Amino acid sequence: MNHEFLEKNVGALIVLILVAVSFGGAVEILPMVFERAAAKPIETLKPLPAVQLEGRDVYIREGCHVCHTQMVRALQFETQRYGHYSVAGEDAYEHPFLWGSKRTGPDLARVGGRYSDAWHAAHLADPRSVVPNSNMPAYPWLFENELTGEDTAKKMEVLRTLGVPYTDEQIAGAQQAVAGTTEADALIAYLQSLGIDMRNYQGGGR
Ligand code: HEC
Repeated sequence: MNHEFLEKNVGALIVLILVAVSFGGAVEILPMVFERAAAKPIETLKPLPAVQLEGRDVYIREGCHVCHTQMVRALQFETQRYGHYSVAGEDAYEHPFLWGSKRTGPDLARVGGRYSDAWHAAHLADPRSVVPNSNMPAYPWLFENELTGEDTAKKMEVLRTLGVPYTDEQIAGAQQAVAGTTEADALIAYLQSLGIDMRNYQGGGR
């Protein structure tokens, strides 16, 4: 089959393009399906405690992942800025994962411990109060809304069916742990947890 034939036969060209693209896709995707080791949790990985889990849901609801990624790429200028590049085992308990795809703001995969809780509170209430040129929106309502925790245990049970190792005690104590916490406090607790398991895995430090 010569090239001229292909260029003149759109049907054959489409079929052969599909074959080539599927082959390329299969080579990238299939090893991830069969290689379970890639999704093996890193040894220090812990399921998010109840309050942080609720904070994560606030993060999803407010669309923080639309402007922030949670994935440090293995590129020198990224690892110098953020810390160790992301590994699959860090996200083994993430359902759904929040890697994101657009960085209007910085990557947050390693933000835990970088700022104080008070800094985060000021930043969420009014980003411009701490970063004058910020174009991040303010989230004042998070400080008024209180969580009841009534669904938290249920969420943990569902996550357990997906392989997240919550203990019976954690599930039993979930509502009590969450009730009365503001959405802002839960979100800040979540932000402070980001990257900590990986830091412990590397033996502390950054
Ligand atoms: C419209 C895009 C946008 C959205 C939505 C957004 N951010 Fe941001 N965020 C930014 C930008 C831009 C910056 C950098 C300037 C600054 O620090 O305020 C930033 C900075 C941050 C930082 C500081 C990171 C660092 O390493 O200095 C944190 C933490 C943060 N955002 C959390 C959040 C959370 C939590 C939400 C959801 C409640 C959120 N952001 C929603 C754009 C956004």
